[in-house]
Order: sequence, then structure tokens, then C-alpha cells
Amino acid sequence: MIFSTLILAAGAGTRMRSARSKVVHELLGKPLVRWVVDATKTAGSQEVITIVGHELDQVIPLVEDTTIIEQKERLGTGHAVMIARDTLISVNTPASLVVLCGDTPLITADTIKSMVASQQNSQAAVCILTHMLEDPTNYGRIVRNDKGDVVSIVEEKDATDEQRKIKECNSGAYCFDTQILLDNLDNLNSNNAQGEYYLTDVIGICVEKGLTVKAFIVDAEETQGINSRVQLAEATKSMQRRINTAHMLAGVTMLDPEQVWIGADVEIENDVELLPQTMLFGKTQIKSGSVIGPNSRVTNSVIGYDCRIDESIIIDSILEDKVNCGPRAYLRPGTVMKRGSKAGTHVEIKNSTIGQNSKVPHLSYFGDATLGEGVNIGAGSITCNYDGYVKNATKIGDRSFVGSDTMLVAPIELGADVTTGAGSVLTKNVPDGALAVERGDQTVIDGWTYRHKREKEQ
Ligand code: UD1
Ligand code: CA
Repeated sequence: MIFSTLILAAGAGTRMRSARSKVVHELLGKPLVRWVVDATKTAGSQEVITIVGHELDQVIPLVEDTTIIEQKERLGTGHAVMIARDTLISVNTPASLVVLCGDTPLITADTIKSMVASQQNSQAAVCILTHMLEDPTNYGRIVRNDKGDVVSIVEEKDATDEQRKIKECNSGAYCFDTQILLDNLDNLNSNNAQGEYYLTDVIGICVEKGLTVKAFIVDAEETQGINSRVQLAEATKSMQRRINTAHMLAGVTMLDPEQVWIGADVEIENDVELLPQTMLFGKTQIKSGSVIGPNSRVTNSVIGYDCRIDESIIIDSILEDKVNCGPRAYLRPGTVMKRGSKAGTHVEIKNSTIGQNSKVPHLSYFGDATLGEGVNIGAGSITCNYDGYVKNATKIGDRSFVGSDTMLVAPIELGADVTTGAGSVLTKNVPDGALAVERGDQTVIDGWTYRHKREKEQ
């Protein structure tokens, strides 16, 4: 099945009430237009052409793997196709051209394939995806004759009272015979209520010429466009249900799937358990036996086998197997937790490697640090990695024991089997096997408190 795709994404989307283009708004961590591009690529589309216009600087970076055409004046959906004409001819576009709107993220690759198959198998001029709506306001209506064949699409503003009662609506997704579409673009005019060139007029023209026009009805949940934040929230619910159902059927446990949000590109193995208020986004991978949540967010990270992530945030990090994280750990970009290591309660780690079986259990900050194997970090110890100008490195050798509240002023290197005294501010390197202590001698004054109390309370 060979076809190309034209995605219309030049419109303003005023009902979003946003400074940003409508199609850059995200649904489960992925921009609306990107869902559409990915769906048609998954369906096997050869060339993908995106028509941009409104706030194009925001849209272009998201669709750089497609051919981008700017529509400077937005004179309607038919006009959007007209300005792509030269590109469609020069790229040797296959015989079928799918046209989609950039604001319909729920359309699936399977539906796109079925639509193309229907157009190709019946050698139709076009196959239109339609949906039934209880409230069809604002949509183009599908007008059929007595035999049930499609006659035309009439826009709401141009429709008669009788036509407005039709509940079958144009979803805005089509598969055209490319040559027939190109041949008929010149027959479009803007003599209508909105003064626009309607792509939908091509359908009536084809019918008049005696060409075959197909239409098939899909669930409106899949093809409904997003015009407002209310519809964005509804679409998010639909997508969440679709994605979570697929993961559960593949062996992922969810205590409450309504409280788990997973992006399209996340991979999860079976026997993973996801607890409420968990968000998994970006190119995240989670291996078998791991339990994530509650209240956790993992973005662009790899979580190995049998990890436990409790109330934590993990970004651009790699966790090997049997890693323990949280409650309330914050792993920032560049963190590598080796097998069996731990980032415990209220611990922040950035751009650091925590060696095998090493533990950072309580109230610590480690930045730009490399810890060997079997290191233990006492509560409250931190790296002082930033001097106001540059970030400096800290290294700690295997089996070292860092006493509570040690300040490691970087750059600094502790060897293997080092011990540091609690409360030390360390500024110099420490060799293998040594103890480093930096603090004043303790003074004890007998009876001081009693005397002090007596003086104050006399
Ligand atoms: C269009 C259809 C209507 C259908 C509805 C489904 C026409 C004439 N009408 O109506 O039958 O029910 O979609 O949502 O096609 N766009 C451009 N350039 C333009 C105009 C629009 O790129 O000059 C893009 C928009 O960004 C949007 C899509 O085309 O993604 C649809 O445009 P819109 O103005 O929303 O069309 P509707 O009036 O809703
Ligand atoms: Ca629309």
C-alpha cells in the first residue's frame, strides 16, 4: 500500500486562547501535530508534507522530518492543498494522497490504512472518514442521496436547515486519488459563506463527474479535532485509556489506570507495577519486576529489573537492576545508578555515577560525582560542586564511608576505604585507607546549664 500524506496545520486555533499554536499543545507529553505525523508514518506513508502558517516558528521544529510548506495567506483547506501542488508534483507523489488535520491526535495508523485500502481497492476518487455526532455544530455535513451514496459535503454556514439536521459529519481526514485531486483544484472557488476555498468542494465536483466517492464511518472519539482546552482534556482521557489498556493487556499492573499517565514512546515490560499518580514520559524504558509510584515522574530514563521507585522524580537517567529510589528522591540528567545502589529520602543527584551497591540514603546532594562500589554516604552529606563559576568533580573510591554531614568541597578525590568524620568540611584529597576529620576539639563545661538556668530564673 503506497501513499503520501498532507497534514494541514496552518490554522490559528483561536478557541485554545493561547499564545502558542494549537498544534504544539501537548497530549501526554507529545505535541498534537506529532501524534498525527507519527500515526501516518506508522501506517506506512512515504512522503509527509506539513502545511504551516500561524506561529510557524513553533511548529517547524516539531515536524522537521517532514517536507514543510508555508501557507502565508490562509484562504481555506482547499487553498492549503493548492499551495502544495508544486511539491506534490515534484516529489513524484504516489497515486494516493492522505489529507489529515494537525489537530486530530487520536487517529490511528490502522484507520489510515483502512481508508487508503478502501480508496485504492475501489479505485475511488476519494475515501472520506466520517463520524456521527449528537451535536454536529460547526462540522461539514455528509449529504447522501436516496441510494445512500455521498453527493457532497456542505459546511455548516452554507447548509440549509434540513442539511443541518444531518448527524454524519466530515472528520477532515481523506484519502484522494492524487491526480484527480490535482486536476480539480482549479475548479474550486470561494463563492461561499466564509469566502474560503473549501477542500470539501472537491467531493461534489467528483460526484458530478461520475467518479466514485467512498465514505466510511469511524468512532468520533478517534477523529474529533481539538479546538479547545476542554477537548484537549477529553482527548487526553481517551488516549490515556487506549495506552494504559494496551500496557495492562501486555502484563503491566495498575492499581488505578485513571491515575497513571504514559507517553506514546514509553516501553514497559511485563510484571511491572504502576501505582497512582505516576507519569512516564519521553523515551522511557522500564524492565520487569519494577514498582513505580505512587507520586512519581520518570522522563527519558531507563529503569532496570526489580527497581523500587517511590515518590520520586527521575529525568534523563539510567538505573541498573535492583536500584532503590526514594521516598522523594530527585535524579536529574546524567545520573547513573549502578546495580543495587540506593538514592534515598530527600536525596538529589545530578550528573553523577553511584557505584554498585553504594548507598546515598538520606538528605544528600551529589552533583558531578563518581562513587565506586559499596560506598556509604552518611545522612546530610553533600558535594559543594559549584564555586560560582564552574562545576567541579568529586570522586570517592570503593568501600569508603563518608560520615554524616560531610561537605565535600570539589574538586576533591577520596581514595578507596576512606573514612570521613561527621561534620567535616573537606577541601583536600584523601589517600586510600585514611581517616579525614576537619572540626574543632569538643569542649565540655560541667554544670553549665544548671548555673545558667539559676541565673536566668532568679
Ligand atoms: C473543516 C472541514 C469540515 C470538517 C472539519 C473537521 C473544510 C472546508 N471543512 O472545517 O467539513 O467537518 O474540518 O474538523 O475543509 N487549515 C490550513 N489552512 C487553511 C485553513 C485551514 O492549514 O487555510 C487547517 C487548520 O489548521 C486545521 C484544518 O485545516 O487543522 C481544518 O481547518 P478548519 O478551519 O478548522 O476547518 P473547519 O472549518 O473546522
Ligand atoms: Ca476545525
